[in-house]
Amino acid sequence: MRIFSGIQPTGTKHLGNYIGAIRQYVHGQDRGEALYCIVDLHATTVAYEPAELRRSVYDLTALLLAAGLDPSRCILFRQGDVHEHTELCWLLCSVTELGRLQRMHQFRDKSVTQRELVSAGLLLYPVLQAADVLAYRAHEVPVGEDQREHLELMRDVARRFNTRFPRPGTPHGGGQASGDGEEVLVVPEHRIPEIGARIMDLQDPTRKMSTTGGSEAGTVYVLDEPSAIVKKIKGAVTDSGKEIVRAPEKPGVSNLIEILAVARGHTPEQVEAEMRDARGYGDLKAAVADAVVEMLAPIRARYVELRADEDALETVLADGAARARAIASDTLADVRDCMGVGPPRTVRAPR
Ligand code: AMP
Ligand code: TRP
Repeated sequence: MRIFSGIQPTGTKHLGNYIGAIRQYVHGQDRGEALYCIVDLHATTVAYEPAELRRSVYDLTALLLAAGLDPSRCILFRQGDVHEHTELCWLLCSVTELGRLQRMHQFRDKSVTQRELVSAGLLLYPVLQAADVLAYRAHEVPVGEDQREHLELMRDVARRFNTRFPRPGTPHGGGQASGDGEEVLVVPEHRIPEIGARIMDLQDPTRKMSTTGGSEAGTVYVLDEPSAIVKKIKGAVTDSGKEIVRAPEKPGVSNLIEILAVARGHTPEQVEAEMRDARGYGDLKAAVADAVVEMLAPIRARYVELRADEDALETVLADGAARARAIASDTLADVRDCMGVGPPRTVRAPR
């Protein structure tokens, strides 16, 4: 099984990113052939600074390695290094409905808040995301809840492509996609974690924790110092009452229970049972703070070491890109062939 996910380099990574996505990436390494892509091209769809973008790619590379990605067990690379992504994005545009892109939640939200130009790239963002995954014929995509709509679009694009462009010489449709079977593109499944797919802001537990929309005091960053983590968690907004259980009218407590469950590796039910004798929310917060510090402190320590050596980070990315390209170029040759783009595969391509 092949696993693929992408993550944006810009924006300081927080507990939501770690629990919803990065942890699943680490587990993915034991479950299949895993590819993880730092999507610098996606970062150019909103206002950004070139030098800062490049720096943030190194920051994230170091963070992902510190969190447990191991280049000998996964392919970690930078999107902009593998040109097949942009080519496939263009080719997939031919089977992507414009109206659907205009209706995507992220496009609508971001185009409203965009103070400068609303770029065409922002509209095409989900097509590039589809290309990221489809170029590798990946089966599974670990993401948080907020990516559900993008994943649905990606699945539709793959299906539409397979129907519209069957392999030359094969009858229409049917059959499972594989590298050398009938359909050209694999329709991927999303893998949204059952617990922690949507970690909420500690100051406003009705909103997801996020770098852009959230509150500073309600956002725990992966690289926060232990004292900052404790302060933010102890200051979390809770709800009325003092029972430590998950409930729709208790979003603050429910969020803390989920965080504690993930950090302890227990189920939320177990956490509720463990907390039955607690004296109140203060005890819950103290337990969450301890567990989160324990989970994040080693990552912070490793990060500092890894971030210091940019040459080594660049080597990891370059190596990953070479391995990624070998897979993606094969898919692109198939896609071009099915679409009638360039010479037929039996003829030598012009140089
Ligand atoms: P981004 O940094 O926007 O590229 O997001 C990286 C990953 O983190 C994506 O898979 C998101 O779905 C996930 N993610 C972002 N915010 C949260 C959150 N509050 N809770 C859980 N997962 C999240
Ligand atoms: N849009 C994703 C996010 O904001 C990042 C992303 C880009 C991605 N390409 C991807 C996620 C491919 C999964 C698969 O989090």
